[in-house]
Amino acid sequence: MTIKFDYKNVENFVGSHELSEIQAMVKTADSQLRNGTGSGSDYLGWVNLPTDYDKEEFTRIKEAAKKIQDQSEILVVIGIGGSYLGAKAAIDFLNHSFYNEQSETKTKIYFAGNSISSSYLNDLIHLIGDKDFSVNVISKSGTTTEPALAFRVFKELLIKKYGEEGANSRIYSTTDANRGALYEETVAKNWERFVVPDSVGGRFSVLTAVGLLPIAVSGVDIERLMDGAQSAQNAYTDSDLSKNDAYTYAALRRILYDKGFTTEILANWEPSMQYISEWWKQLFGESEGKNQKGIYPSSVNYSTDLHSMGQYIQDGRRDLLETVIKLDNPVSNLSVPKTEEDGDGLGYLESMTVDEINTKAFQGVVLAHVDGGVPNMAVHIEKQDAFNLGELIYFFEIAVGISGYLFGINPFNQEGVEDYKRNMFALLGKPGYEERGKELRNRLN
Ligand code: PA5
Repeated sequence: MTIKFDYKNVENFVGSHELSEIQAMVKTADSQLRNGTGSGSDYLGWVNLPTDYDKEEFTRIKEAAKKIQDQSEILVVIGIGGSYLGAKAAIDFLNHSFYNEQSETKTKIYFAGNSISSSYLNDLIHLIGDKDFSVNVISKSGTTTEPALAFRVFKELLIKKYGEEGANSRIYSTTDANRGALYEETVAKNWERFVVPDSVGGRFSVLTAVGLLPIAVSGVDIERLMDGAQSAQNAYTDSDLSKNDAYTYAALRRILYDKGFTTEILANWEPSMQYISEWWKQLFGESEGKNQKGIYPSSVNYSTDLHSMGQYIQDGRRDLLETVIKLDNPVSNLSVPKTEEDGDGLGYLESMTVDEINTKAFQGVVLAHVDGGVPNMAVHIEKQDAFNLGELIYFFEIAVGISGYLFGINPFNQEGVEDYKRNMFALLGKPGYEERGKELRNRLN
């Protein structure tokens, strides 16, 4: 394993006997997960996905990515939640910070269908202008409002620009294998089709075509990503906590939760990692937040947010635990420029690199937060590459599976997400929601 889990900074908060005490529960959770005896066991396809995936489709993903690069200056990736966060996280982390602005970039990638903003859609239409573009529409159900709406908009634009036939050759659809509105349309129009496997829920789908196609379009080696996930799949099989970092992470969170640490902050020290946190928030929030239980997942980007959230984390309500994802060796590094005069007082840093300063800041912040009563765990990522990211993705996925069973909930459903949708549909006048619509309008008036 190249990623490393360090939990020495929870020592003041969790005694080693407590890990021994939770070991039996972890063994049970492991058996539920591995043997499919826990709730939600129809959705365990992600557990062996890094080794057990559709190799024929994987080859088609690489071919389609190449075709998109040849055919289009812009790829619009339409999806929401699990249908976009993993791809966005990987593309941001594994490419140049200004990927879309670089002249070498073959195909710029823009995401749509993850909000209901007409300004955003209009601005993207404007940005596309007379440039060639393709669309990757990603929706397991095909009926999620945000992506369905955006897809209508960009499908219309494609047809206006290229005619029906031309549009059909520029739509890449990732959806359910057998059913659903998008599936039906995809088959009818003969769009290139990729599958969201039945056994893999949205938030676990980054290593399926859902994430892999857009990630491959950005030029990332998706085989290395799968290799990394495979390395983690092999590493995190032992139910013995002393031999399994991902399970230890899950166990420590559970112990801390019982001590009142009910909000977890995922902190990163690289702007390119912001969306890893967004992906992680969905993974943990949607998996654990059930039956009025679960750790509330939040995130900060350091050092940026030390200047806005640092005060609260240091000295606010003491229900916070912090997990840092720290990149140990960034792809590039910069030395501190030397100057004759020392007007800014930074002369003492002249022998250092910017990354060394970042690392010292990380170390100092960890200690300050621990001293302030915030237990701290760190996941160290050796390098900014696809292999490390594959490991990290799997580390969190397997941890949340175990964690869900430690909380005694079904980590693989998301029934709570439906409640707001029912209200929204009722207020929008969707057929079948008439009664609820009346009731809600009365309440609003
Ligand atoms: O994890 C989930 O289930 C959700 O975030 C879904 O991925 C999201 O709502 C999108 O659903 P769909 O792919 O059906 O459009």
